Amino acid sequence: MKGIVLSGGSATRLRPCTKVTSKQLLPVYNRPMIYYPLNTLIKAGIKDILIIVSPEQAGHYLNLLGSGKEMGVKFTYEIQDKPEGLAQAFLIGQNFIDEDSVCMILGDNIFEDDFSEDIKNFESGAKVFAKEVSDPKRFGVVEFDENKKAISIEEKPQNPKSNYCVTGLYVYDNKVVDIARNLKPSPRGELEITDVNKIYLEKGELDVAMVSGAWVDAGTFDSLLEAQILAKNKLQDKMVI
Ligand code: TTP
Repeated sequence: MKGIVLSGGSATRLRPCTKVTSKQLLPVYNRPMIYYPLNTLIKAGIKDILIIVSPEQAGHYLNLLGSGKEMGVKFTYEIQDKPEGLAQAFLIGQNFIDEDSVCMILGDNIFEDDFSEDIKNFESGAKVFAKEVSDPKRFGVVEFDENKKAISIEEKPQNPKSNYCVTGLYVYDNKVVDIARNLKPSPRGELEITDVNKIYLEKGELDVAMVSGAWVDAGTFDSLLEAQILAKNKLQDKMVI
């Protein structure tokens, strides 16, 4: 299983703090934000990790993280010229992914859970992780039937069919590269991860598990503050980097 940390984006919601640096390099308590998603992948046993960054920040990431040797892993870097969507990661990363499965985490997503078992037991299809939230309109929203089986996924819906959103950790088999190749940009001009998930759902190959511990998408000032408190109070003893 290969790993990808998607760490580009424009972080407009955190301006001016992100005017001259990347969101994922901002401090979350005592570490740069990206350490937390990296920690999630490394703890899950993933050792070969692609870090996708924006062109302006590439040097900073390289200086901060280097080859990965000190952390016992191997980092590869690629540049995303423009933030054209989460699913573009599978096109940028296609040579890196090669013939393997891939686990992608967003560089601003901070999880308390340990995903080792999910990664170890993954065979094929897709697996995503849902969490109940109070503001589902901001996310991809997943609807379940009475047997807790996922039946629909919608990106940022006006009228969400549930309060469960898809969090920023995704596990896919190698078919994801072909799926990403055939995606059309959405009206907002992005290759949407929700469209990837819908294709797996339609084929009956999407497994939706629940996130049991805390999860924060640190993309706004309030959620960044929440991430800091989570990191201080609950994550320190879970960090291996
Ligand atoms: P978002 O928070 O949706 O976007 P953003 O970081 O550009 O922020 P804003 O909405 O405030 O302008 O992105 C989620 C994560 O994915 C974040 O870590 C940045 C990353 N990302 C990319 O690396 N490339 C992309 O094309 C997009 C859309 C996001």
